[in-house]
Amino acid sequence: ESRQMTVAEVRARKGAAPLVCLTAYTTPMAEAVDAACDVVLVGDSVGMVLHGLPSTLGVTMEMMLMHGRAVARGLSHALMVVDMPFGSYEESPEQAFRNAARLMAETGCGAVKLEGGAAMAGTIRFLTARGIPVMAHVGLTPQGVMGFGGYKVQGRGADGARVLADAEAVAEAGAFAVVLEKVPAALADRITDAVPIPTIGIGASAGCDGQILVVDDMLGVFTGFRPKFVKRYAELGDAARAAVETYAEEVRSRRFPGPEHVFADETGGGA
Ligand code: KIV
Ligand code: NA
Repeated sequence: ESRQMTVAEVRARKGAAPLVCLTAYTTPMAEAVDAACDVVLVGDSVGMVLHGLPSTLGVTMEMMLMHGRAVARGLSHALMVVDMPFGSYEESPEQAFRNAARLMAETGCGAVKLEGGAAMAGTIRFLTARGIPVMAHVGLTPQGVMGFGGYKVQGRGADGARVLADAEAVAEAGAFAVVLEKVPAALADRITDAVPIPTIGIGASAGCDGQILVVDDMLGVFTGFRPKFVKRYAELGDAARAAVETYAEEVRSRRFPGPEHVFADETGGGA
């Protein structure tokens, strides 16, 4: 079946078959992940993964709009979700609506994602009441890196109650799913039991209702740093470097281009 996944279908996967989610930022990568995925996220991780930024804080609406449009052209099955960048939603529900509506109208995505728990519940309620499905993101929220003082595990020990309360608040506010990032596995399982919406884990637990990874991380393309929760399913960065070395060697030794890559002088002999 090639019909596009809906927010309602994702929501209905609570406690059922795990949701398969990955990020994508370009048309060809969207085409590569579409059939296998239920959800494709145009993450603000694009800033670090494709643009070389030191964190996600410098990601702009313009970047999310451009990568969102590119990904939309490559999807026919997965639900497309676009991240709201830092500074585009925190000020007020009205600001969040204005920017979320722009992301939906100009990219064709089916939902937006924003970071934050209880503090963002009012905004999530405002958006969902006005036709904008929201995926929430609690635990380690990378846009909060300066406040956290690093990409640290969230919710250990007594602090688990805070992350649980955040997940409950976003579910109660109408989010259709919630990403749990870098929290203890037992806490992720507890939250998954406690909330009525799918939990999507990254550095969380196999017991979550779904999993997500940054596609360039799991393919070994982005190797800037490697969190413990990234499993490498391929080493495409190494493959690219090896291919480029071979190319360079063949150019220098005039073995490339070969006879099959060049054109004869006579006409009518093919392209
Ligand atoms: O930006 C991103 O890629 C994300 C996922 C890792 C959840 O937010
Ligand atoms: Na993100």
